[in-house]
Amino acid sequence: MSQEGEEEENDHLLFGGVDVVELAERYGTPLYITDENKIRDNFRSYKKAFETVDNDIYFAVKANGNLAILRILAQEGAGADVFSGGELQLVKLAGIPLDKVLFNGNSKSEEELRAAVESQVKVSVDSREELQTLSAVAVKMDEEAEIAMRVNPDVSPKVNPKIATGLRTSQFGIPYNEIIAAYEEAAKLPNIVIKGIHCHIGSQILDISVFKEATEKMMQLVEGLYERGIELEFVDLGGGLGISYQKEKEVAPTPKDLADMILPTFEAKMESLGSNLKLILEPGRSIVGPASILLSRVNTVKQAYKNFVAIDAGFNLFLRPVMYDAYHEVVVANKLNEQASVLSTVAGQVCESGDIIAKDRMLPPVKRGDFVAILDAGAYGFSMSSQYNVRPRCAEVLVHDGAVDLIRTKESVEDVIRTQVVPERLR
Ligand code: LLP
Repeated sequence: MSQEGEEEENDHLLFGGVDVVELAERYGTPLYITDENKIRDNFRSYKKAFETVDNDIYFAVKANGNLAILRILAQEGAGADVFSGGELQLVKLAGIPLDKVLFNGNSKSEEELRAAVESQVKVSVDSREELQTLSAVAVKMDEEAEIAMRVNPDVSPKVNPKIATGLRTSQFGIPYNEIIAAYEEAAKLPNIVIKGIHCHIGSQILDISVFKEATEKMMQLVEGLYERGIELEFVDLGGGLGISYQKEKEVAPTPKDLADMILPTFEAKMESLGSNLKLILEPGRSIVGPASILLSRVNTVKQAYKNFVAIDAGFNLFLRPVMYDAYHEVVVANKLNEQASVLSTVAGQVCESGDIIAKDRMLPPVKRGDFVAILDAGAYGFSMSSQYNVRPRCAEVLVHDGAVDLIRTKESVEDVIRTQVVPERLR
């Protein structure tokens, strides 16, 4: 396979040192391609940025639940934020240590609470009702449940409202002014062990001043709890760091920028309390987002109301543009050096007019059989895919210094329909 730096020889996109057109020929399209080194680098930049404090980085599994990717993160020392019993099973398979797992969720089933207690992972408690249920579950199992309260800090990041989770009006977390009372209740409940405090304010945050506001509010709560004799071991400030999807317009804050924004507040409060808290962060997007592309093949080019370039992936495989009006750069992966001279709109292959992946972009002249790569597709890409239109999900490969591994086989139509049952009387 080709190595990085060979762009001049042909005009194919190289990703992780691999010619993606060769990958398309070998594995077919659509194809998610992930660069292992990018994931390791992104994770390490968090560890480096926060090295002055006791910290753990819990990868938000919802962003990308591929087992090989979770293995990479496990090797790097990551913990995990899981949001379902299924994600908990995944991180177990990936070998992420269970003492570095937080079970989140605003609507956990009793079965999930039992799974969390049984696995001895920490639970982020999302309501006072859930606190009581969890206590009852733990008593019944004769086990202890370690908890943090999910705080709704009432802060407002300037992001798409669909991904702002710390607004006062949001369904996530316990209202800020009820937190102290919730902890006082927790302290009295049987088989509940208070360990920490948790918030997550939103996602794709580029103006990171809001993290400072959240940190201040969270540390005020920590102080209030100390005054009442409730001591904690960790503060989890969630994920949310944005990435640069629109290279010309957006500058991505780095983990170091985040550290500079929140550590002074965090460290000052620890000092005044005379305590040593662990800082936990739960990044998803900023670890895996830039590390993958979704490679597709052009099925048709049609000059109609617009110049439509229709590819073999749609919102079944990549929902972000449709769900959040998200901007993703697209490149014609076999014509990198050709002049971008045609105003084009990249459409998916789902039977909905909303299935537009990239609107009004200047691209080189494209024809059937060309390859379109959607960039920065590693976070909330495959993990939000569906089988709409009975389209089996695609394969995934991992590239690493010019080498390639298959990390997910593509589904078959048989896989998609396997769970359906036609009752005898209808046969
Ligand atoms: N922790 C909790 C409790 C979360 O709910 C999330 C994301 C994260 C951490 C990770 O946030 P990140 O670092 O990835 O921003 N599907 C949407 C994003 C939804 C985020 C949900 N929660 C998108 O594609 O933009």
